[in-house]
Amino acid sequence: MKPIISPSILSANFSNLAHDIEMLNRSEADWLHIDIMDGVFVPNISFGFPVLKHVAKLAQKPLDVHLMIVQPEKFIPEIKALGTEIMNVHYETCPHLHRVVQQIREAGMKPAVTINPATPVLLLQDIVREVDMVLVMGVNPGFGGQKFIENTVEKVRQLRELIARTGSKALIEVDGGVNLETGARLMEAGADALVAGNAVFSAPNPEEVIHALKNL
Ligand code: DX5
Ligand code: ZN
Repeated sequence: MKPIISPSILSANFSNLAHDIEMLNRSEADWLHIDIMDGVFVPNISFGFPVLKHVAKLAQKPLDVHLMIVQPEKFIPEIKALGTEIMNVHYETCPHLHRVVQQIREAGMKPAVTINPATPVLLLQDIVREVDMVLVMGVNPGFGGQKFIENTVEKVRQLRELIARTGSKALIEVDGGVNLETGARLMEAGADALVAGNAVFSAPNPEEVIHALKNL
């Protein structure tokens, strides 16, 4: 199976976002990955709804929205209003994760749960059947362009086993430090979807990198 490719616009040119979104629309990218940060859960702030409204209007691919914020359930209506397909919330920010997952589904979106590098895969045992996707972080969230944490490959293997054992239908997405080299190993370990920011946008020809990732 070819990987689902979800380029992260965190590494796009913010002074000409429309140009980069049009490039993604033309490319073989499957989804658009949108990173929302609050400066509380993660040590950085990215963009908010006034900017994302315009991004959503231009984007012709399903939105894969990654919320690196505390109390993400507060923003379910705003995220839905963007036309979001997949809403990713962090395991670490949701003490009532089961409820949040239900709320996301009731709002008409696909719920996904994200785990930080230090969060064990096994903690997902009782939620993995309820979500459409698990997003495994390959870096500590907050910034693009960081070095891939090697243990992520092993976590993808463990998650693939957990999904098989529990009969879950969840997809496995990996975010952070993904490039052609790490992407190939993640696919071999059982990933379904790859997020890539820096690898795409720092390349002289981003569409070519998307094509290469798509054909890993
Ligand atoms: C990190 C974000 C990622 C980031 C990935 O906190 O969640 O989506 O944009 O960037 P790269 O691919 O550059 O590691
Ligand atoms: Zn992300």
